[in-house]
Amino acid sequence: MNYAEAKAKMTAIGQEHILKYYDELSETQKENLLKQIEETDFSVLKRIGNGVSGERGVFSPLAAMQISEIESRKQELYDAGVAAIKAGKTAALLLAGGMGTRLGSDGPKGMYDIGITKPVYIFERIISNLLDIVKETDTWIRLFVMTSEKNNDATVKFFKENNYFGYKADRVVFFKQDMAPACDYDGKLYMETKDRISTSPNGNAGWYSSMIRAGLDKILTDEGIEWINIFAVDNVLQRICDPCFVGATILADVAVGSKVVRKAAPDEKVGVMCLEDSKPSIVEYYELSEEMMNAKDANGDPAYNYGVILNYLFRTSDLSKVTDDKMPMHIVKKKIPYIDENGNPVKPDEPNGYKFEQLVLDMIHQLSSCLPYEVIRDKEFAPIKNATGVDSVESARELLKKNNIEL
Ligand code: UTP
Repeated sequence: MNYAEAKAKMTAIGQEHILKYYDELSETQKENLLKQIEETDFSVLKRIGNGVSGERGVFSPLAAMQISEIESRKQELYDAGVAAIKAGKTAALLLAGGMGTRLGSDGPKGMYDIGITKPVYIFERIISNLLDIVKETDTWIRLFVMTSEKNNDATVKFFKENNYFGYKADRVVFFKQDMAPACDYDGKLYMETKDRISTSPNGNAGWYSSMIRAGLDKILTDEGIEWINIFAVDNVLQRICDPCFVGATILADVAVGSKVVRKAAPDEKVGVMCLEDSKPSIVEYYELSEEMMNAKDANGDPAYNYGVILNYLFRTSDLSKVTDDKMPMHIVKKKIPYIDENGNPVKPDEPNGYKFEQLVLDMIHQLSSCLPYEVIRDKEFAPIKNATGVDSVESARELLKKNNIEL
């Protein structure tokens, strides 16, 4: 894209201030800015005031496969899962593109050391969990790692320096997720530097479109991968590609399996699996009416009782049905570093604008069927969102100790 084209593109959307410093830039900087203007999807700006619709459909319960059923069908589920893993039909995808702002560490969240007597990195714990299955099935499961432009180099370097934490290097593929522009409350784009528009990762649902853009669907086809287990970087206890979960999802013949945990209390603040207008969905805790909170299933148990933990097994053949423009856009108020009108960098202490994100949980509603699969909370759910308190390094350490993991 040349300057005239960039100017026309930005003028058409009322953002020509992005080229304000163009004449001052070096040739390389000019090229970088033009490239960013060419590659960035500015259509997200039109979603301001029109992001997540407040209107929801009609909710109804969606029964989960509970521990008792999993136990009684264990061998059958396990065998089906192992067969799929051994046949190379199952891949894992680590979502590591987030900014981890709540944890407050500068580097990628996975590089955070949660050890006490020795270093134990979050990435190390995650890879160790996956290695259990690799050993159990004698199969090197294909592992995709989604990073972002902000943390890719540090992440790749860290994996290399640590010898991939024992994983087989040629079975790991890193790819960067797409970035979304960030703007002020009037929709004007911020500049991060004179040659760069402020951007942030486009949300964890970005994994699918970013993977396609990186050409990785070729690996899916070439290797016959039919299922992808998507999981968050910060849950250090979760099992990944565990045979019973894989087997249960395949045998249920659904588009996606979702690990869920039984709620600790009816009003616990977790998103709950359900149906919305007969399609799988997730109802947020603040959307649960009193009536829904007290509703019971045929066994007399709470009908909306299973919270999601961001660990899903997607059937790859159904993913083309998920289209970005049908998905809600979460427009979040955040602190966005920028340069002021004099070109000086500013790091705001308070939120000063919008970031745009699409979320994996909204992908579920685009699909026709889902199996909520119960896992035991204390064995599989130790998220690290904060440094202290709820869902923190401290709480995760306690749970790891309970599971006899040395720290
Ligand atoms: P969170 O929603 O906890 O966000 O991500 P975060 O960015 O890690 O942390 P905060 O909110 O800034 O404190 C849940 C999972 O989704 C990934 C994260 O890396 C984490 O594994 N994620 C999130 C992405 O991969 N990309 C994104 O754009 C956002």
